[in-house]
Amino acid sequence: MSNESLANLLKEERRFAPPADLAANANVTAEAYEQAKADRLGFWAEQARRLTWAKEPTETLDWSNPPFAKWFQDGELNVAYNCVDRHVEAGHGDRVAIHFEGEPGDSRAISYAQLKDEVSKAANALLELGVRKGDRVAVYMPMIPETAVAMLACARIGAAHSVVFGGFSADALATRIQDADARVVITSDGGYRRGKPSALKPAVDEAVSRVESVEHVLVVRRTGQDVAWTEGRDVWWHDVVDRQSSEHTPEAFGAEHPLFILYTSGTTGKPKGILHTSGGYLTQTSYTHWSVFDLKPETDVYWCTADVGWVTGHSYIVYGPLANGATQVMYEGTPDTPHQGRFWEIVQKYGVTILYTAPTAIRTFMKWGDDIPAKFDLSSLRVLGSVGEPINPEAWIWYRKNIGADRTPVVDTWWQTETGGIMISPLPGVTSAKPGSAQTPLPGISATVVDDEANEVANGGGGYLVLTEPWPSMLRTIWGDDQRFIDTYWSRFEGKYFAGDGAKKDDDGDIWLLGRVDDVMLVSGHNISTTEVESALVSHPSVAEAAVVGAADETTGQAIVAFVILRGTAAESEDLVGELRNHVGATLGPIAKPKRILPVAELPKTRSGKIMRRLLRDVAENRQLGDVTTLTDSTVMDLIQAKLPAAP
Ligand code: WT7
Repeated sequence: MSNESLANLLKEERRFAPPADLAANANVTAEAYEQAKADRLGFWAEQARRLTWAKEPTETLDWSNPPFAKWFQDGELNVAYNCVDRHVEAGHGDRVAIHFEGEPGDSRAISYAQLKDEVSKAANALLELGVRKGDRVAVYMPMIPETAVAMLACARIGAAHSVVFGGFSADALATRIQDADARVVITSDGGYRRGKPSALKPAVDEAVSRVESVEHVLVVRRTGQDVAWTEGRDVWWHDVVDRQSSEHTPEAFGAEHPLFILYTSGTTGKPKGILHTSGGYLTQTSYTHWSVFDLKPETDVYWCTADVGWVTGHSYIVYGPLANGATQVMYEGTPDTPHQGRFWEIVQKYGVTILYTAPTAIRTFMKWGDDIPAKFDLSSLRVLGSVGEPINPEAWIWYRKNIGADRTPVVDTWWQTETGGIMISPLPGVTSAKPGSAQTPLPGISATVVDDEANEVANGGGGYLVLTEPWPSMLRTIWGDDQRFIDTYWSRFEGKYFAGDGAKKDDDGDIWLLGRVDDVMLVSGHNISTTEVESALVSHPSVAEAAVVGAADETTGQAIVAFVILRGTAAESEDLVGELRNHVGATLGPIAKPKRILPVAELPKTRSGKIMRRLLRDVAENRQLGDVTTLTDSTVMDLIQAKLPAAP
């Protein structure tokens, strides 16, 4: 990025105050910001008391060897006990922990008492298979309750899990098993995706054949499909787990005991094993799940639609909600199986009150049409959340209006695999919301925007998002590579965590995320964010989704090239393309007008729903495509390339 800060183009004037009844009964009020500002560590020490400690911590933070933080270091706890047993002991054993909805329509309600039995049995089974405190266990599973049980069983015996998303290849799985030196792999025969059983075990067989460390593969039967079997190594979950005792006494571990490793793909080089530990992680995920969603565990039905293979599933399906004793929905499948109203049918069936999903899903629902959610009773909803990418203001408005009846707050939550928990977000009972902005660091979190020289920008300025103080759920290192941890996050700006996202502060000091800094374009000497141009395109009634890239250009350095998906009824024509260019010009200014706009049927996305602009840049610059292995559907790129007229 040049020295000139990011162009500050977008003006968004709409504001949405919290509903009065929600504000009046909110878990958190504006006072929390003041309290945390006056005594940040005291604030987090107080939040740590949300948990049940076997030994209460006396020290909140040890930051004597930055960037290696130790939170609540002398405290001891068992994470699984906190997520399960203590709710049963408090008399909530009959409360439903998980309403499981399988894709084919099968369902199961699992109470906290049942969850406690299942987790204890699975913990005993892992011990029988030789897993010990300090070991690593790989988890390669569909979205079924046993996945959460497996993770909690690892936590219970002090083994770190490494969940690998079930959509990843054998190759990706092998690399991750090897890097973590995992001793056991927990998997299933398969899961249901798009109306059919989709196999998982073959990828495990292939991955395990290439690594040395794995002694056992524990297999859940979900679909009943045939599986290859290696005697002595492979064991069925129903053979080994079901016969165990449901008694297991949880041992207390140090607050800094490893809880899990989760791999995140760097733009270059091998995936980074992000290490999270116990006490600080659980404190922040519990606090943020309670404050950001205003969770009332007695009455709310919470649903996070993420896959447990991503950090969102770790922090806001497993650890945060269960630590809080929440009742939640877990759904196995895709949003369009067997019909495009499946999500709304589930909301109606379970009376979901809090929904947490991603912008990519919201834009897909916009494309499918307003009439689909309109057929269902969504009146139970009271808080809506978004995570994963910047949410375009128009998608935010659509979400609030069509899903939230123009009544529910929308919380746009910014965080990362590395941050472990939500960092920047409105609070539903406090913040006057601005569509498209994550707005404010949560109480106890210190974030700001700096320029190239690490100076904090004034309101109205743009640059890079940094975190200026350690936080409880921060990554502790990259597994096995402390130097890479320092180089990647702590070297760009001295003493500050570099998040890798572009951001700006508006005139009120609220933070707007502008996408990964690698995606920022430089057009005739102006930094222009792909996010802002995409949001301008999506604000046109004919556009459902847009992806914008900067392509090398002899005159302007980079030229803006936009790929758009049109809404249901809009017809592709030269007139429409001209109209869209003018619309961007009118919204953001002439400098931001795309040089080319290409209507396409689909956009290339990673399996977690992020647009892969890198590949679109390859197309726009007539280059051979780079690595497409993390795409959900690699044929998407063939369609896009076929559409592309030769570059002018
Ligand atoms: C990156 C982290 C956080 C869990 C899921 C993704 C982008 C995430 C937002 C948001 C703007 C967002 C950032 C971030 N991102 N949430 N609300 N607004 N951007 O975790 O895969 O580690 O990705 O996702 O670019 O750095 P992840």
